[in-house]
Order: sequence, then structure tokens, then C-alpha cells
Amino acid sequence: MSYRITVEPSGVSFTAEAGQTVLEAALAHGVALQHGCGNGSCGDCKGTVLEGQGEQGIYMPLLLTPEEKAAGAAILCKFKPTSDLCIAASVHTESFQHAEIRRLLRLGPDVMGLWLRPETPFAYKAGQYVQVEVPGHPGVMRSYSIANRPADDGTLEFHIRRAPNGLFSTQLFEALQPGDRLRIRGPIGEFFLREDSPRDVLCVAASTGFAPIKGILEEAFFRGFDRRIHFFFGARQEQDLYHLDLLADWARRYPNFRFTTAVDTGGTQMLLPTVDECGPWGQHEVYLCGSPGLINATLALLKTYDTPSAQIHFDAFAPS
Ligand SMILES: Cc1cc2nc3c(=O)[nH]c(=O)nc-3n(C[C@H](O)[C@H](O)[C@H](O)COP(=O)(O)OP(=O)(O)OC[C@H]3O[C@@H](n4cnc5c(N)ncnc54)[C@H](O)[C@@H]3O)c2cc1C
Ligand code: FES
Repeated sequence: MSYRITVEPSGVSFTAEAGQTVLEAALAHGVALQHGCGNGSCGDCKGTVLEGQGEQGIYMPLLLTPEEKAAGAAILCKFKPTSDLCIAASVHTESFQHAEIRRLLRLGPDVMGLWLRPETPFAYKAGQYVQVEVPGHPGVMRSYSIANRPADDGTLEFHIRRAPNGLFSTQLFEALQPGDRLRIRGPIGEFFLREDSPRDVLCVAASTGFAPIKGILEEAFFRGFDRRIHFFFGARQEQDLYHLDLLADWARRYPNFRFTTAVDTGGTQMLLPTVDECGPWGQHEVYLCGSPGLINATLALLKTYDTPSAQIHFDAFAPS
């Protein structure tokens, strides 16, 4: 059994086989439906079901508000049609472009700093991410957060963690060199600094979850943000806490900024008792980035402070 899916406003249509999600079916037909993680963690594939039915699979809490659900919103990477569908969703119209590797620098034993110069520099909000095509694997994309605020020359900075046998990160650590070119697409995502918020700021990140937080903090400092900012940075091993000198420098230069680090070999969720001790956090604008486990645990903690979901922003670094 197959179902016809029509995407508005582009008018693109394709078929989905029984058991396929909307995203799987779109990608199988070469339709570049906007998405990030592909597994219900980031919310970037959010769309609206205008006509028809389907089964919504599991996704991270807070990706859909009750109002959005009532209006037919769906997480399309986890949505399996059970009838023909008409949906409203974004289809990428921008093409890929090449970006040259300008610099590679080990930030820690398992963390590589990567600086890319796109052929056509583009505007983005600090905290957003791009997708990088794995060299030698056409169409296979990996998501990486931009770690700097927009630079005058368009250079993009990334902090990339080596994944066990990672298709992209192994090439990055072992083969890629300055001067090589990568195909990228972006910017993507809703994780960025809410400049107009009058609230103090809580940031929580683990490992390379620091990447988009760094961009967000740079943007805040650049704009002369005077709200208090407390950043909690965790890792499973001491050497994964990179850029500590930079953080110490910021703490000296900006009196409204402080940071706290925590190492826990058992898992970064143990960062949270430290966060909890420094609460309450109900009135803060909150930025979270790290593994889905860390995000879920932090969301549970914030629930105890009744932090409104509109004040909580996160990117979950799920495997692609
Ligand atoms: C929106 C978004 C932004 C991201 N930004 C960053 C970033 O700035 N820096 C960064 O380092 N990562 C980031 N990630 C995570 C990164 O995209 C994935 O880890 C990616 O799968 C790594 O690709 P790879 O080819 O190296 O490994 P893969 O070939 O995808 O995976 C190899 C093996 O490692 C496991 N694995 C891969 N990633 C993870 C993970 N994160 N946690 C646990 N197991 C994993 C896989 O399950 C697989 O077994 C982001 C993810 C998303 C969704
Ligand atoms: S792509 Fe669907 S939630 Fe990330």
C-alpha cells in the first residue's frame, strides 16, 4: 500500500510506502524536506497536516506545544501516513555550495576545530547549524552547529567530536586537510539568541554542545548584553572540557558572565545537581545543547522550576 503526499506551498508530491515516515519517503524521492537529526530530537522537520491522517511516533518533549498539536503540527521524521496527505512544510530550495577548509585544530583528544570558508558567504543567526555532505558519500549529510557569530569574511567555525567509526568525523580526524572542499547546506534551525528577551540567561552544554553556545555567547557579548549569564559546561572526561581559557577570559572581561564546569565519568546528566544548586531557573531564558539524554534530564529539572517552555531553547546532538 502506498500513499500520495503533497507538500504545500511548493506543490511537490511523492509517494510513501506503508511503514515509511514522511521524511523517509521524501528523501527516497529526492525531495529535500527540511530536517536535522531525522530521529525526533531537533524539531527542524516540523510541519502541519492540512488533510489526511497518520501516526505520530515518539519525539523529544517540547518540540510541539499543545497549541501546535491542536493546529495539526507534526514531527515529520516520525510521522507515518495512514492515508493520502497534504502537508505544509519547508522544502529546501537553496542548492548546496562548496566551502574550503581553512584551518583544522585539535581542541581536545576527541574534538576537532574546523574552519570553513563558503564560496558564497551567507547570513545566519549565531547558534544555527549547517549540514555537511560526507566526502565520497553523495547525499549523506551530517549536522554541525556553527560555533562563531557571523564573521566579516564569512568564515564558519565548528567543533566536531569524533564518533566511534564515524563516517564523517573519521575522515575529518584522519584525512581531510586545509584546502580541501566540502559541500554544505544551511543555515538551519531555531536555536539562536533571543536578543529581545529581558531575562537573565542559563546555558547548559556538554562536550561539543558548547559549539552553538559559544556562538550565542559571542553574539550576546558583541551586542553588549547586560543580563546575567551563567553557563554550565560538562563532559565525561576532563580533557573534553575545551576552551577553558576562553571562558576564563570572558569571565574576566564581562562581569555579567560566569561559568561552572563539571566532569562526570558516569554521564553528563550528573552536571544537573550543580545546575540545580545554583537555581532557581524559572525566570531565565534557557539554552541547552548536548546529547538527547542531557536535554531530557535538563527539561525534567526545569519542570520543577515551572520554567515556561517558550523560554527554553535546545538542540539535541543526536546521531545522524
Ligand atoms: C542539529 C544538530 C547539530 C549538531 N551539531 C554538532 C556539533 O556541532 N558537533 C558535533 O560534534 N556533533 C554535532 N551533532 C551530532 C552529529 O551530527 C552526529 O554525531 C553525527 O552522526 C556524527 O557523524 P559521523 O559521521 O562522525 O558519525 P556516524 O557515522 O553518524 O556515527 C558513527 C557511530 O557513532 C554513533 N554516534 C554518532 N554520533 C553520536 C552521538 N552524537 N551520540 C552518540 N553516538 C553517536 C552512531 O550511532 C554510530 O554508531 C549535531 C547533531 C544535530 C542533530
Ligand atoms: S529531523 Fe525531525 S526532529 Fe529532527
